[in-house]
Amino acid sequence: MQPHDIEKKKVSPVPFMAAVIILLMLMGLVAIRATRSPKATLPLGLETEAYHIPADNRMTTKKIQLGHLLYFDKRLSPDDSVACASCHRPNAGFTDNQPVSTGIRGQKGGRSAPTVINRVFSTTQFWDGRAASLEEQAKAPLTNPIEHGFKDEAAVVEKVSSIRQYRELFRAVFNADVTMDGIAKAIAAFERTVISGNSKYDRYKAGEKKALNEQEIRGLQVFEDKGNCEVCHAGFNFTDEDFHNLGVGMDAEKPDLGRYGVTHDESDKGAFKTPTLRAISKTAPYMHDGSIATLEEVVHFYNVGGHPNANLSPLIEPLGLSEQEEKDMVAFLKALDGEGWQDITPPGDFPE
Ligand code: HEC
Ligand code: HEC
Repeated sequence: MQPHDIEKKKVSPVPFMAAVIILLMLMGLVAIRATRSPKATLPLGLETEAYHIPADNRMTTKKIQLGHLLYFDKRLSPDDSVACASCHRPNAGFTDNQPVSTGIRGQKGGRSAPTVINRVFSTTQFWDGRAASLEEQAKAPLTNPIEHGFKDEAAVVEKVSSIRQYRELFRAVFNADVTMDGIAKAIAAFERTVISGNSKYDRYKAGEKKALNEQEIRGLQVFEDKGNCEVCHAGFNFTDEDFHNLGVGMDAEKPDLGRYGVTHDESDKGAFKTPTLRAISKTAPYMHDGSIATLEEVVHFYNVGGHPNANLSPLIEPLGLSEQEEKDMVAFLKALDGEGWQDITPPGDFPE
């Protein structure tokens, strides 16, 4: 399937929106008094303190609804062919399950679409961390010539403004005309509702000892000890939010230098952001260039010490894992699949 063929599922947005509104109410983020402690409200395992909402983009249900529409609307491209959801599809764990993405007029980029799940817990966005917020991130693909393909921000605003009901929705949400900032804020607010927690791992950590089977428990031990994965895939969202060189793609003729492109610091050559491992079984293929097809192969890649190159992270070295330990680790990674995003489906109707 072409990534831009979003399934036209006629699903009522009601269950999803209801879930979001309840979540926000419980978190005390909308103007209704929370009756439960915020801790109890995000799916198990996710940290409320890390749920980052910028002061200038408060979450409201109307804003989230607007962002939901914009995110799925293919009219956010000059020829009505590409939406955010073309490359970050709900039923592909909010990726496109392609090594690299395909944008407007079938053009392919050089990097793999990361998941939108749990982005609320991160500050920097993109594999190289070049965007400092989800708001800033959301603007980039719209004017990227090989993604949504608008020639400039004014063209994006003009297109959205040409749709009467969008003009009305922007009035209702921002008390203003359609602007690029408004588009980015609404989309970012929506993205902050795309979360995953309450995995078997989280239930195990919370004391439900039977939540993980024996193999998954062995895999967890390998993950934390012999595998040394936890040094980088750290904390509740399994990322240190830092950049490391594992050697992925470094043997290419003109390797993607990743973080170096942002900092121009020699030590950042070939370094990419540590991605979350939540929902990882849904988001194949793996790595910034989509070069590793399966979790089995990812684990084996680490076991042999990554791909040696001049700037390989000192944290990456051969692990000496047995075949059984590799399998156990994969079983554990799959136990990180959680809940919180599955109800999010394309809107039934779009503004006219
Ligand atoms: C043509 C495919 C395509 C489209 C359309 C697209 N993206 Fe992406 N998205 C990508 C790719 C590829 C990356 C990684 C690029 C990079 O890191 O340099 C990315 C990165 C991201 C990230 C950063 C995730 C992370 O882990 O750092 C977010 C968030 C995101 N996109 C949201 C959106 C939103 C919102 C839209 C619509 C406004 C959108 N994308 C449209 C392919 C796409
Ligand atoms: C030195 C830090 C570091 C260590 C140690 C580390 N990782 Fe990673 N991991 C990363 C980075 C950075 C990436 C992305 C690299 C890239 O795309 O070039 C990544 C990517 C991944 C991916 C693919 C994620 C995706 O969305 O494509 C998986 C799965 C993964 N790591 C699992 C593990 C496991 C299992 C271990 C332990 C054996 C481990 N990692 C150890 C930093 C690390």
